[in-house]
Amino acid sequence: MLAELRNVTKSYAAVPVLAACDFSIAEGETVAIVGPSGSGKSTLLNLIGALDQPESGEVIVAGKNLATLSPDELAEFRNAEVGFIFQLHHLLPHCSVMENVLVPTLARKASKAERAAFRDRAAHLLEAVGLTHRLTHRPGQLSGGERQRAAVARALITSPKLLLADEPTGALDRENAARFTDLLAELEVAVIMVTHAPELAGKMGRVLELRAGKLV
Ligand SMILES: Nc1ncnc2c1ncn2[C@@H]1O[C@H](COP(=O)(O)OP(=O)(O)O)[C@@H](O)[C@H]1O
Ligand SMILES: [Mg+2]
Repeated sequence: MLAELRNVTKSYAAVPVLAACDFSIAEGETVAIVGPSGSGKSTLLNLIGALDQPESGEVIVAGKNLATLSPDELAEFRNAEVGFIFQLHHLLPHCSVMENVLVPTLARKASKAERAAFRDRAAHLLEAVGLTHRLTHRPGQLSGGERQRAAVARALITSPKLLLADEPTGALDRENAARFTDLLAELEVAVIMVTHAPELAGKMGRVLELRAGKLV
C-alpha cells in the first residue's frame, strides 16, 4: 500500500471528526472523497500529508509511520513524497508562474543538470495544464482557473507518488477540470481528491464518502 490510515481518531474541542477511520490507497490508484462540509475531508488529507497528527491510530505513507519521523524527516516527507493542491492556490505573488512551479525544488541539493531537468519538467507540466503562454506572468495577472492550474503544476514538480487535492477544481471550468484529470492519468500518480463535482469524482477509480467519521 502507498498510504494507510489504521484506526485513526481525530477530534477538535472534544467533537470527533474522524472516529476509528480506516483507509488505504495503492500506488497509482485514484480515490475521490466526498461528504458534506465539516465532515472531516480536509482533516483526512492533512493527516496523510503530515500537516496534522492523529490522536490515536497510525498513518503510514510510503512505508513510513509518520508518528516516528523527526521534524526534519517530516519536512523532507512533505517535500518529496506528497504533492498538495489546496482550495486556495497559495502562489507567491512576486514570482512568475515558472518560478512558482519550481519553488518546491529550491530546498533540494541539485546539480546544474538536475536543475535543468526540473525546468524541463516544469515546462512540460505547464504545457500540460495549458499555461505555456503564461510562464513569465505573475499570479495576479492570471485568471482564477489559470492560477489553480499553476498550483497543479507546482504540486507535481517533485514527481510525488501521491497527490493530495482539496477541492482542486472548484475554480476550474468543465474543460479545464477534464484537462486536469487527463494530466493525472498521464502522470500515473496516485491521487486522493476531495471534490463536490460528481463528474470529477466519477473519473476517479473509487469514490468514498466520509460519514460519521468513517469512510464508506
Ligand atoms: N484547526 C481546527 N480547530 C478546530 N476545529 C477544526 C479545525 N479544523 C477543522 N475543525 C473542525 O473539524 C470539522 C471537520 O473539518 P474539515 O476537515 O475542514 O471538514 P471538511 O473539509 O469536510 O469540510 C469541522 O467541524 C471543523 O470546524
Ligand atoms: Mg475542507
